[in-house]
Amino acid sequence: MVNPDTATKPNAGNSNPAAPDSMEDRRGMNTRKLEVRDLSVHYSGNTVLSEVTLDVWENEIFGIIGPANAGKTSFLKCINRMNTFTDNMEVGGQILFSGMDIHQLKNVYALRSRIGVVFPLPVGLPLTIYENVALAPRLKGISDKTELNIIVERCLTRAALWDEVKDRLNSLGSLLSGGQQQRLTIARALSQDPDLLMLDEFSIAVDPVTTMRIEEVLKELRSEMTIILVTNLVQQARRLADRTAFFLDGKCVEVGETEALFEGNVEDPRTRDYIEGKFG
Ligand SMILES: Nc1ncnc2c1ncn2[C@@H]1O[C@H](COP(=O)(O)OP(=O)(O)OP(=O)(O)O)[C@@H](O)[C@H]1O
Ligand SMILES: [Mg+2]
Repeated sequence: MVNPDTATKPNAGNSNPAAPDSMEDRRGMNTRKLEVRDLSVHYSGNTVLSEVTLDVWENEIFGIIGPANAGKTSFLKCINRMNTFTDNMEVGGQILFSGMDIHQLKNVYALRSRIGVVFPLPVGLPLTIYENVALAPRLKGISDKTELNIIVERCLTRAALWDEVKDRLNSLGSLLSGGQQQRLTIARALSQDPDLLMLDEFSIAVDPVTTMRIEEVLKELRSEMTIILVTNLVQQARRLADRTAFFLDGKCVEVGETEALFEGNVEDPRTRDYIEGKFG
């Protein structure tokens, strides 16, 4: 097993000629980004997620759909070890992240620096727009102003925000509209150069046109990172996700190729009913 505290990005600077070096190769070989085995979550002893076993491949968009209280957000919280910081949250089972058992990690921050997270409502830092995005690169040791400028512009552009803020980068992020703050959160998540990006109902506070622009960006980002997309918009999962998991009442009912699920090729009729809007 890989040493959890020293491992770096697996595909960065790939020098092994036999190793896969394109997105298609990696997906084709089903390289596992995450291996989740018998995962369970309890809050103050109440079980809200159990028996979740699934894999997420490198460079795929992995959709998670399901009604309220299904345990979708709790699942994401396990992956970046939120339980370490939440007193009443207990996690069972195993999660391997690029082969590393995340529960064995001593340095949780090393794991978190590889995972970008976007929550449903923007969580702004009390900083300027520029500093919201430059903070993570600075913490990684980048101090060259030109390099930081390039990163800030690239991340804001990818988050479909650059044109709206390029003339006021030094004003506070908290003065932006709700939808703009959400895009700033996405830019900040990208500024970490994560190898896993997790989005939890990112479009709740974002208008439909901007949502479509961000969706286009996510499709492009798939060549560089793995994306987990929790969405309450089943059609968004259909547009974006390579594979989709259906969560219900604290269980993962099934995982399948998105198109197959939406065409009705399901293992469990509840998946079809949810996709067809019969409940939820
Ligand atoms: N910190 C917490 N303490 C106690 N219970 C919690 C906590 N966080 C979540 N829960 C409970 O866990 C269950 C699953 O919540 P979770 O947020 O994972 O569901 P979800 O599928 O993301 O729902 P939604 O679609 O509404 O976001 C819910 O019943 C919720 O009340
Ligand atoms: Mg949720």
